[in-house]
Amino acid sequence: MRREMYKPSQRIKHKPDPGKPPSAAEAEKSRLFSPISYQNLHLEQCTWVPAMVPWRASEDGFVTDDVLDWYERMARGQPGALVVEATGIRDVPSGPLLRMGDDRFIPGLRELVEVVRRASDGHTQLFIQMIDFLAIRRRPERGKFLRRFLEITDSHRQHLGGEQLAESKIREKLLSLSEEELRSVLTEREYENLARGFRERVTDVHLQHIRDLPLVLPKLFAAAAERAQRAGMDGVELHYAHAYTMASFLSAGNQREDGYGGAREKRLRLPLEVYTHVREAVGDDYVVGCRFLSDECIADGSDVEDAKYFGVEFARAGMDFLSISRGGKFEDAAQPRTGWAAYPYTGPSGYECMPSWISDEQGPFGRNVAPVAAIRDAIRQAGFSTPVVIAGGIHGFEQAEALLETGKADIIAAARQSLADPDWFLKLRLGRGDEVRVCEYTNSCEGLDQKHKQVTCKLWDRSDRDQAGIKLSRDGRRRLVAPPWEPK
Ligand SMILES: Cc1cc2nc3c(=O)[nH]c(=O)nc-3n(C[C@H](O)[C@H](O)[C@H](O)COP(=O)(O)O)c2cc1C
Ligand code: SF4
Repeated sequence: MRREMYKPSQRIKHKPDPGKPPSAAEAEKSRLFSPISYQNLHLEQCTWVPAMVPWRASEDGFVTDDVLDWYERMARGQPGALVVEATGIRDVPSGPLLRMGDDRFIPGLRELVEVVRRASDGHTQLFIQMIDFLAIRRRPERGKFLRRFLEITDSHRQHLGGEQLAESKIREKLLSLSEEELRSVLTEREYENLARGFRERVTDVHLQHIRDLPLVLPKLFAAAAERAQRAGMDGVELHYAHAYTMASFLSAGNQREDGYGGAREKRLRLPLEVYTHVREAVGDDYVVGCRFLSDECIADGSDVEDAKYFGVEFARAGMDFLSISRGGKFEDAAQPRTGWAAYPYTGPSGYECMPSWISDEQGPFGRNVAPVAAIRDAIRQAGFSTPVVIAGGIHGFEQAEALLETGKADIIAAARQSLADPDWFLKLRLGRGDEVRVCEYTNSCEGLDQKHKQVTCKLWDRSDRDQAGIKLSRDGRRRLVAPPWEPK
């Protein structure tokens, strides 16, 4: 069952326009295919495949053969850097999401490193994205919520005129209310728990484990980073973007009063402390960067001015790269159906994160360019040369090269275009860009991601799937990796 994803009301249909591909000689002279070095970061080219969760880990978070196949296929295209999907830093069950919260995950991650080394012939640097997230529950059935989950308070009693009434009577009364009446009796948060499912926030400091996040997270991130290093990863990316814990600390919505919320510098405090612990754990000569948002794209969220400040401070702290995404929040996500959990890429901010072909006048391409350029500018003006990685609808050589030439970004990341064609950077570099399978930005892959189904691309997942030796998705309908391509 698919939750509708937001689309701008103009509904203008945009076609991808990759422009003219370069000849091999043009590619060789280009910035895109030139090396880049800064502190510990040394890439052979300014190309990057950002983190994408393909839902192929085992239920207990281990690397599987399907995970290895996914990264092997991506590595054959020899991007400058490949970032392993968001990987959980805690040792807690989290479904088929990769995990790195214990040493038992190291052998699998080491195998992943070896597969990528071999497949890319040593040309690709492999980083891993480290994520922490808070609890989220499914939207409950109304009756169950009012009969069992809702904690009955004095406020409910007062509203329902029965201070002496037994709890079961209060629950009966609540069950008989109309939606509008119920809304006026429940607190905003209680109503949200009913209408969207319970979701923890970093501001829930009445909960001890939330209050203690600043105590536990630096150690958890540091231990996980050290594991990544032992597994042989070339570096780590701290996930400070989208709807997850660290982004929620940076958010303007974070009004914690314990020194970790409120003003910008306080919201930044924990992300900097996490970085410092990670740096101490992995040493000075290991790649550590982060992914954060140019704009949360929600009402009262952090904006590009906040992001400029954060970018400068991350650079000052010594990060080796800054990868900048956009949007992807829970706050404006679509209401889930009963029995489903809210998904952060279903609202307007989700659209900004992964814009699709049906769009407004601006279209899905380059929506992150102006804010990223402004953040990079602020970082340069503050005297730092930290490389800035841009993503969002980039699918052509001319577009990518122009961004680098005009100093809007330093490294070009492409998620969906790399999923559509994992060889696309290689094809461009070899002067065979006319063979690129161009992403149509219809977001079928994103729909699969939303349902936690193994992610594939509609442009290739039906091709040759009946041939012997082709691995299929669990539903038996789609091939799991892109068809092979041999450079002549
Ligand atoms: C299937 C899928 C999974 C994704 N998973 C992650 C993730 O684990 N971490 C992350 O920071 N971004 C994730 N993203 C967002 C992408 O990294 C990227 O920022 C976004 O798709 C916009 O870039 P694009 O237009 O090149 O696709 C994911 C995107 C897709 C399509
Ligand atoms: S399914 Fe394929 S073509 Fe469609 S958006 Fe995803 S990667 Fe692009």
